[in-house]
Amino acid sequence: MLAHARHDTAPSPVLSAVPKSAPERARSVPAADVASIGLSHPSDWVEMLELVDRCFPYATEEMMGWWLCYQRPLLHVARLDGRVAGFVHVQARPESDTLWINILAVTEEFRHRGIARQLLAHCERLAAEWGLGRLGLQCHEDNASALRLYALQGHAQVGEDFHADAGGRYIVHDKALPASAIAAAVRTPAADPRWRCIAHRLIYRAWTRRRARTTR
Ligand SMILES: CC(C)(COP(=O)(O)OP(=O)(O)OC[C@H]1O[C@@H](n2cnc3c(N)ncnc32)[C@H](O)[C@@H]1OP(=O)(O)O)[C@@H](O)C(=O)NCCC(=O)NCCS
Repeated sequence: MLAHARHDTAPSPVLSAVPKSAPERARSVPAADVASIGLSHPSDWVEMLELVDRCFPYATEEMMGWWLCYQRPLLHVARLDGRVAGFVHVQARPESDTLWINILAVTEEFRHRGIARQLLAHCERLAAEWGLGRLGLQCHEDNASALRLYALQGHAQVGEDFHADAGGRYIVHDKALPASAIAAAVRTPAADPRWRCIAHRLIYRAWTRRRARTTR
């Protein structure tokens, strides 16, 4: 993950000053709302782009346009109550047997309801389906809630990276997935047909122009 997220620094309602043991902690977290997770659709774009604007000051409109229009099979959206609850963009890196998570974000009003955990579990399923044995990501060193989430979900801190143009030091995470679940051959998803990419590009360009005019 390259962008330095603007995360919420407010203490989580499930945290207390004294760390709880695992079983106690598990009991204090109500069952999560179950989101449906699928590929992004133009009707999701406004909510996704506004979420990115709020969370990732270094993410550009151009990068999001590329992902939305040309990398739709890599952009997975969690929907709850008819809204975009969060999304994740992934990248297959067969050379390191890794499904890399570029961006993970959850809409503020859906946070602490298990959406990020469900998106991470979804990434594990994608990795297994695509024949990749590991999940990888980077997280800014100051993003306490995300670091806690990754630690709780079994992602090990395996290194650091420095991005001067994206807020500084990032912690590299890695999680090995159970070998039994992984497809034998690497099989990443097919790209969208060209006509769909072009149609999406036109929609995106019209939308960004309109937005530029209204925010001028
Ligand atoms: C970090 C982020 C993705 C977490 O998303 P989230 O959906 O709130 O995460 P989850 O709900 O799955 O888990 C977060 C917390 O909620 C708790 N939780 C999960 N389900 C819950 C429920 N039903 N009720 C109460 N708490 C719950 C989890 O135990 C976890 O607790 P913690 O805060 O003590 O660690 C989100 O805050 C975000 O989008 N931040 C901005 C962007 C960002 O930082 N992205 C990551 C960049 S590396």
